[in-house]
Amino acid sequence: MPRVYAVVNQKGGVGKTTTAINVAANLPELGKTGLIVDMDPQGNTTSGLGVNRSELSRSIYNVIVDAEDINEIIRATAVPGLDILPSHRSLAGAGQLPGCRRVHADPNPV
Ligand SMILES: Nc1ncnc2c1ncn2[C@@H]1O[C@H](COP(=O)(O)OP(=O)(O)OP(=O)(O)O)[C@@H](O)[C@H]1O
Ligand SMILES: [Mg+2]
Repeated sequence: MPRVYAVVNQKGGVGKTTTAINVAANLPELGKTGLIVDMDPQGNTTSGLGVNRSELSRSIYNVIVDAEDINEIIRATAVPGLDILPSHRSLAGAGQLPGCRRVHADPNPV
């Protein structure tokens, strides 16, 4: 049964990307394969796993906005057994497109 882990924190610069890369990069050593999904327009997880962002023609943006086939955009990383769905700075504009809406955290949670 696959497991999904999310590394999320509203605060910036607290080690989310570093944690995601290092946890994912150690999966093969545990005998597991994995897919890391970079949903940050900064794309630091993508570049951190050896994907040259300037050479990326398609990314998670095209999956979300253009409904492109995810299997054609997922690629291998430098870590054997670890694939990535790469991100791109274009993702920052996805929330502005018709049909997309931003989801804001409730500033006054109960
Ligand atoms: N465990 C750690 N010990 C010391 N420094 C760390 C540790 N984890 C991350 N850092 C450093 O902290 C800085 C921020 O880390 P990182 O980019 O992973 O944070 P982030 O939460 O993803 O940031 P952002 O909100 O900008 O996406 C980097 O310079 C990184 O090298
Ligand atoms: Mg980050």
